[in-house]
Amino acid sequence: MTEITQPAPEDTAPAKPAWRRRILIVVVAALLCLQFVPIDRSNPPVEADLIAPAEVKSILKRACYDCHSNETKWPWYSYIAPGSWLMAADVKEGRAALNFSEWSNDYDEEDTPEMFQEICWPSIESGEMPLWFYLPLHPESRLSPQDLTVLKEWSGVESDADVAETEQSTKASVADAAE
Ligand code: HEC
Repeated sequence: MTEITQPAPEDTAPAKPAWRRRILIVVVAALLCLQFVPIDRSNPPVEADLIAPAEVKSILKRACYDCHSNETKWPWYSYIAPGSWLMAADVKEGRAALNFSEWSNDYDEEDTPEMFQEICWPSIESGEMPLWFYLPLHPESRLSPQDLTVLKEWSGVESDADVAETEQSTKASVADAAE
């Protein structure tokens, strides 16, 4: 048995690979520990969902609801740190900025399209939403030209001039709110 203790070629190699392996072990151990940090993946009850035609709602459900509603579909990577932290942070921030599950508390069927145009359209138009890094993982959330047409027609966005005006007034109201 003991005659096999002759050093293997890699043991006589410079110390670098051993260090690399040690660093790798530390990194893997750290990643494992991170898995035990609790993450809030709760979906509160939906009490006042946005009022919109089914066609519109299905687009928003695909493209926005994971971050802007209480109906988040938590993907596989939301169960593995650090993906879980990023996703949980986006959902928390996203719901705080805009939560479609609470919209009908404030807006009825008549107000909703206009409010959508005012509050949401600028972010869609500028390409800011849905968040770019989310798209490769959720290709179904990309808004197609048809989706955009449906949203425009429903919310009453007419021309680029209107859009610019809407953007201005939204900025103004955001500035007002900040004062
Ligand atoms: C991956 C998560 C995610 C998706 C998907 C997503 N958003 Fe957001 N959204 C956020 C986060 C996080 C914020 C708050 C931080 C920020 O403004 O970037 C936000 C902010 C917003 C705001 C407020 C912007 C402001 O300046 O106050 C609007 C409006 C918005 N999103 C609309 C949408 C719409 C409409 C969709 C679907 C077409 C969508 N978002 C999809 C995460 C998301």
